Amino acid sequence: MVEGAIDRVLFSEKDIAEKVEELGKQITKDYKGKDLLLVCVLKGGILFMSDLSKKIDLPLKMDFIAVSSYGDSTVSSGVVKILKDLDTSIEGKDVLIVEDIIDSGLTLKYLLGNLKTRKPASLKVCTLLDKPKRRTVDLTPEYCGFSIENHFVVGYGLDFMQMFRNVPYVFIPKQEYVDKMQSS
Ligand code: XMP
Ligand code: MG
Repeated sequence: MVEGAIDRVLFSEKDIAEKVEELGKQITKDYKGKDLLLVCVLKGGILFMSDLSKKIDLPLKMDFIAVSSYGDSTVSSGVVKILKDLDTSIEGKDVLIVEDIIDSGLTLKYLLGNLKTRKPASLKVCTLLDKPKRRTVDLTPEYCGFSIENHFVVGYGLDFMQMFRNVPYVFIPKQEYVDKMQSS
């Protein structure tokens, strides 16, 4: 089923597991003695946050936020709507946002601005993937799994038309598959 949609696997399960372990170790060091709250950006961040949290050897809490960009679906407008807000206050907490991918950076910039007003003790970003060349705002994540070129990528939380989030690796879909699905 999935094989027919794949052009190229960009990061295998093993690549991801190794990177997640490395990030988890670094975060464990950096947040020792702090009041860590992981904030998963739904839906794309769920697989990454689930695996990453298991590699952080600290007491921590988790919360979830869902956002959506208004307007054009392929180009982020920077106007963001919170579809599901956090359940708890982040005041005084050491907040680490867990994202699937940063593209233009507009979504995250909005999110950072919004969460900053809630007075966390600290606010940082951990993203699995980054497309730095696509950035339109000044934003650098403190933790990043892989920097990539401007490919549309799918799997490990990232979707194409809400599909393939469960695929345990990150791949570039076949252009003809994308075209076929979008026209049907
Ligand atoms: P911005 O441009 O605001 O957008 O940084 C970030 C959001 O855009 C989505 N996005 C992708 N989703 N494959 C995807 O499945 C991609 O290659 C891709 N690039 C950006 C994603 O939802 C991310 O949170
Ligand atoms: Mg996302």
